[in-house]
Amino acid sequence: MRQHRVVLLPGDGIGPEITSVAQNLLEEVSQRHGFKLSFEHQPIGGAAIDATGDPLPESTLAACRSSDAVLLAAIGSPRFDNLPRNKRPETGLLGLRAGMKLFANLRPVKIVPALIDASSLRPEVIEGVDLMVVRELTGGIYFGQPKGRVEADGEERGFNTMTYSSSEVDRIAKVAFDLAKERRGELCSVDKANVLDVSQLWRDRVDAMAPEYSSVAVSHMYVDNAAMQLVRAPRQFDVLLTGNLFGDILSDEAAMLTGSIGMLPSASLGAEGPGLFEPVHGSAPDIAGQDKANPMAMVLSAAMMLRIGLKEAEAAADLEQAVDRVLASGFRTGDLMADGCTAVGCQAMGSELLKALDR
Ligand code: IPM
Ligand code: MG
Repeated sequence: MRQHRVVLLPGDGIGPEITSVAQNLLEEVSQRHGFKLSFEHQPIGGAAIDATGDPLPESTLAACRSSDAVLLAAIGSPRFDNLPRNKRPETGLLGLRAGMKLFANLRPVKIVPALIDASSLRPEVIEGVDLMVVRELTGGIYFGQPKGRVEADGEERGFNTMTYSSSEVDRIAKVAFDLAKERRGELCSVDKANVLDVSQLWRDRVDAMAPEYSSVAVSHMYVDNAAMQLVRAPRQFDVLLTGNLFGDILSDEAAMLTGSIGMLPSASLGAEGPGLFEPVHGSAPDIAGQDKANPMAMVLSAAMMLRIGLKEAEAAADLEQAVDRVLASGFRTGDLMADGCTAVGCQAMGSELLKALDR
């Protein structure tokens, strides 16, 4: 029997609730498709700070590295906002990405027909949107050196460095080109080359790779324009390739096209080794522990883990279909509630998803 070792990182806030929904569904589909999943829970973020004083304990990173795939729910809590940066939950997540060498972050944004009215944009603007944000995840201004805060000329100065080497651009550009080739064949690279040297290098490397992909049409867009085009005419995008900081911002914006960030999964991949799969949304401390969270982005992240990380495409399709069916039947968590729909909590949504596997 096929066996896969999965590390579950429930993290903070709503993390544990949505993790338990995803775990139940994963157990069910693994049985149906004849493979075995073993689960190991590890602490990260605020939960790990409480347990060990460290947002990414060495034991957590080691377990993730030696797994077949990692499923993370969410990290972060206002309780830790005043700690020094190296003791904050976010630092644990960044350390995990760096420690697992996950340079490629894939964030698919696809409009679910049943949710077309949930968006703050008009249905005719978002209808048919199906795009993929490819965000560089272990470089750029998030990790660039030097950085810090110094006293100079009688005041304090804070600084970070936005830097990319050609090999860092090349490996993420290749991921985006390969994806575009399998999709509609359109790659839009987003930068700020009219101002930033690091962006000009980025643009030059993308152009240099283009001849290797004759079936992919490459375009470039400045990040400010891209932010505007995403809400003006989002259907124009197929694959959006961008650096770490621009990708952080644009992927939240793109997520909102769907009306709820509670629907969007992501995958973070390296050149080899296990991938990390996580919802795009955060830990939602305001509704934590109240059985109100939408577990669907987590379930769809579990589906991405099955398909991309564990090569279990049929089981992945089962989970995605269950999400579609439950939405079509009108079940909604609070974030998506609309007239005529049935309001359910996180656990009840989990039960509906389990039932929907059989329909
Ligand atoms: C994300 C998040 C993280 C990021 C934070 C929590 C460090 O916003 O995954 O988009 O900035 O990358
Ligand atoms: Mg973000």
